[in-house]
Amino acid sequence: MTTEATKLIIGNWKMHKTSEEASTFIQTLSSCFSSPPKYSEAWLAVPFTAIAKAAEAAAHSSFPIRIGAQNMHDAEEGAYTGEISARMLKEAGASFVVLGHSERRRLFFESDEWIHRKVVRAIESGLRVILCVGEDKGEREAGKTEEVLQRQLLTALQGFSEEIQHVLIAYEPVWVIGKTAPAPPEMIEKEHLVLRKIVQAEWNNTLAKKIKIVYGGSVNSDNAKTILEEADVDGLLIGGASLSLESFSAILQGK
Ligand code: 13P
Repeated sequence: MTTEATKLIIGNWKMHKTSEEASTFIQTLSSCFSSPPKYSEAWLAVPFTAIAKAAEAAAHSSFPIRIGAQNMHDAEEGAYTGEISARMLKEAGASFVVLGHSERRRLFFESDEWIHRKVVRAIESGLRVILCVGEDKGEREAGKTEEVLQRQLLTALQGFSEEIQHVLIAYEPVWVIGKTAPAPPEMIEKEHLVLRKIVQAEWNNTLAKKIKIVYGGSVNSDNAKTILEEADVDGLLIGGASLSLESFSAILQGK
C-alpha cells in the first residue's frame, strides 16, 4: 500500500498517438505544473513506435514520467514476424510493460500460461511489469470473481518469490473497461483486498503489504479522486481519459 503522494497514475494509450503526438503531449504535460503534481508518479504505456520519442520527452520533464510498452513477446529473439522483444523495448526507452491486458487476452487469445512466460522474460530483462487481472461480466454474475483473480494471478506469477515486488497488479474488471462508470469504490476496495490475501497466502504478509495494486476501468477526472481515497488502491490505470491532457493532468493534480 502507498501513501497519497506516491499513488501511481498510469495511462494506457492503447492504439492511439503517433510518436510526434506523444512527444508533444509529454512536453505540454510537464509544463502544465508550476510545482510537482499531487500524485507525482506518472507512467505512460505508449505504442511501440512512440516509446523512443516519449522517453526522450520524459527525460526532460519537471517531474518523473516513466515510459513503458503495452505488450511484448516472451522469446528472447527469433522467427516471430510482427513481434517485439523485451530487449528491444528496453533499448527504445521502456522501463515497464503492461502484460495480460484483457484486450490481449480476449482479442489476441493470450492464455494465462503465455502471460506467465512473458512475465518471466520481462522480469529477467529488468522491465517492471503491470500485470492486468479481472473478471468479465459473466464471471462476476456467476460468483466466480475470486476464482478468476486467483487463477490469473497465480498462473502468471508461478515460480516467483521476492521478485513479485517488481510486479504491479492492475485490477481491471472487464465489464467496466471503456464504459461510462467505474466499478463502485467499495467493490474495488474489496477485490484489492482479495488480491492481497491471495499474495499473502501464496507468498507472505510482507509482500502482500508491499505489492502495489492499481485499479483500471472507466476512470476519469470526475471519479479518480474518490477511487484513490480507498486505502487499498495504490494508483490508477487509465485508458480513454489518459489521452486528453486536460483530464490526465487534472487526475495527476488530484482534482
Ligand atoms: P478505460 O479507462 O478507457 O476504461 O480503459 C481502461 C483500461 O483498459 C486501461 O488499461
